[in-house]
Amino acid sequence: MSQVDDDIVSNPSDNPRFSDILEAAARRRTILFGGVAAAAATFLGANGVLPAEATTAAPAQGLRRRPLLGFTAIGTSTLDTVVVPDGYTARVLIAWGDPLSDGPTFLPDASNTAADQERQWGMHNDGVHFFPMLDLDLPGLNIPLPGLDVPIPDFISRGLLVQNHEYTDDGLLFPDGVANWTAAKTAKSLAAHGVSVIELWRTRGGWQVKRPSRFARRITGATPITIGGPAAGHPLLQTSADPAGKLVLGTLNNCAHGHTPWKTYLACEENFNGYFRKTAPPNQLESRYGISAAGFGYLWHTTDARFQVDAVPNEPNRFGWVTEIDPFRPNSTPIKRTALGRLKHEGSWVVEARDKRVVVYMGDDERFEYIYRYVSNRPWPVAFALRSHPLDDGVLYVARFNADGTGEWLPLTPDNPALTGFAGLPDILIRTRQAADAVGATKMDRPEWIDVDPRTGYVYTTLTNNSQRGIPGRPPVDAANPRANNVYGHIIRWRYARDFTEPTFTWDIFALAGDPAVPAHGSTINGDKYGSPDGIYVSPAGRLWIQTDVSTNTIDKGAYAGFGNNQMLAADPATGETRRFLVGPRQCEVTGVVVTPDERAMFVGIQHPGERPDDRPGDPANPKEFSSWPDGPTGSRPRSSTLVITKDDGGPIGS
Ligand code: FEO
Ligand code: CA
Ligand code: CA
Ligand code: CA
Repeated sequence: MSQVDDDIVSNPSDNPRFSDILEAAARRRTILFGGVAAAAATFLGANGVLPAEATTAAPAQGLRRRPLLGFTAIGTSTLDTVVVPDGYTARVLIAWGDPLSDGPTFLPDASNTAADQERQWGMHNDGVHFFPMLDLDLPGLNIPLPGLDVPIPDFISRGLLVQNHEYTDDGLLFPDGVANWTAAKTAKSLAAHGVSVIELWRTRGGWQVKRPSRFARRITGATPITIGGPAAGHPLLQTSADPAGKLVLGTLNNCAHGHTPWKTYLACEENFNGYFRKTAPPNQLESRYGISAAGFGYLWHTTDARFQVDAVPNEPNRFGWVTEIDPFRPNSTPIKRTALGRLKHEGSWVVEARDKRVVVYMGDDERFEYIYRYVSNRPWPVAFALRSHPLDDGVLYVARFNADGTGEWLPLTPDNPALTGFAGLPDILIRTRQAADAVGATKMDRPEWIDVDPRTGYVYTTLTNNSQRGIPGRPPVDAANPRANNVYGHIIRWRYARDFTEPTFTWDIFALAGDPAVPAHGSTINGDKYGSPDGIYVSPAGRLWIQTDVSTNTIDKGAYAGFGNNQMLAADPATGETRRFLVGPRQCEVTGVVVTPDERAMFVGIQHPGERPDDRPGDPANPKEFSSWPDGPTGSRPRSSTLVITKDDGGPIGS
């Protein structure tokens, strides 16, 4: 999502009858953010739209004076380092175990306790967003900037960076790895999951973590979180520890993310099933979400009964949701927004419709799963003014892609005749996958990130790969997933005639991945080869950034021989021209990308450098077997980290 909307001209069609309500909403933000200026700015910002058909919107000030793709592409790399083009510098901003504020420092032998970890950057960072703040240099008066539709000044030098910690490698989390598992180990592993909020400021030395910071915060796998929305309190969400079904401990396996026009962060639970174990045969609901006896190898269930499904059967139902976090209120309780459905959420990307209803796009990242859209019932300022929440009251849809290049959104509502087997909306939301099955949605090749280009209205989605497409007993190819044994993945896009809320759309394929120089790959990339696209992000100036997640057992091998380490590329969405911009260290995934509003700094996540290629946990006796990045030979083990990238001439990244 863009922090700067190109189309900064007020939309004169904005309904004036809403003005009183908008003013009330602005006053409410005064309370939320404690700043008169923020309230005024929110009100002034109550204008714009993201015009679906706009193709010639004026560029944000200063951002388009440079070429969209002005850098010299780099080659592939198998080095154990980050490679960027000439004229760019990438440095580590923060790494796993570093303090968020004035907390304890990282102990290289991984002997930090769970209590330490609760005040340190978590492991395996993923989806990330930067929330700019006005830097008034007055204590207590650093306030968030207003929404998408207000130009953000170039002088921004402060902000909050919020990033997920998707999962842990428990082999590297402790001095002795997963041996001799204890409750203290479960606690530290939980503490290394979740979300981090850090405050950044731009100093003479560039962007740095501001320590101490009153905004610094960890949300972990044990933080109390409210369950909100239509499914809150449903019997399937009740447990002996929480008979009301409205309070859950923690958020888990947050992969990508989202952010809202009212300046909150959305953490999105993906492969939550892997933490749970069920010895008895799973029921239909459990098996549809992958609950099994084996799990993903985590040992939490050995010390914490809530991960034993036989003992606490409804605990898994309390995961698989989108969690909303207000980073500007460090003491606020996060809320799981059940109206957005329960699935293996990759992320949740929010865009405003013309009337300021919010539209949320979400992928369910598993082979043959679906793409979803949520539309709020009310314009978001109206919802707030009526003391409702725009993410609690709306309609969830799932996508069908037709062979003729059209598509439609199928509503997952109790009045849909295909859903008479469901006991109302809460049941549909808890069993979202089954509801989507029942309405005939299109089974996709693993939907990952989604982003919207406000210039064209195109919504881009990566479909990372699907080696089972077209094999006997599995779904055949279709127009939207056109390759059998789709090992390289593709990027699909769609748009509407006029607005994001329309029930139908037209779609095409932006790129079939693979090596365009090898005809057998069938790649349509106009430029540098890549495969397994995962992160996708449209910058304010319109650069389309693509990040790859070739799995660690395949990197530079087999079908991926010669592709090197995982990477990030920039594409021109108009021409499709694609240039390789960054290659990560060995065995990492490159995931998470956001720029500052002026695009002069970019934050990029390097996840799981040195991960073993054999699906086993890291070996504490030889933790640097596959990578020693970023600390190098003097470090004790590889660490997931977030980079800050700058251009040496101070220009926008990619220009
Ligand atoms: Fe966590 Fe779908 O990648
Ligand atoms: Ca991902
Ligand atoms: Ca991954
Ligand atoms: Ca992935």
